[in-house]
Amino acid sequence: MSDADRRTVRPVQGGPVMVQGPVRIEMPDGTVVDSDRFMVAICACRRSKDYPLCDTSHRRRR
Ligand code: FES
Repeated sequence: MSDADRRTVRPVQGGPVMVQGPVRIEMPDGTVVDSDRFMVAICACRRSKDYPLCDTSHRRRR
């Protein structure tokens, strides 16, 4: 595999995990979430109302 074939995954400090799209996210409960975006923000804070996709809720203070 060449480096050009590798997907880039970029965790953001205190925020989502950015993944090169398009992606299919398979959730533990069997739900499937597709995104055709060039870069997909996967929520890592669990506060997104649009989980598993980031809705920027991580920016709000608790
Ligand atoms: S990481 Fe952005 S809402 Fe959770």
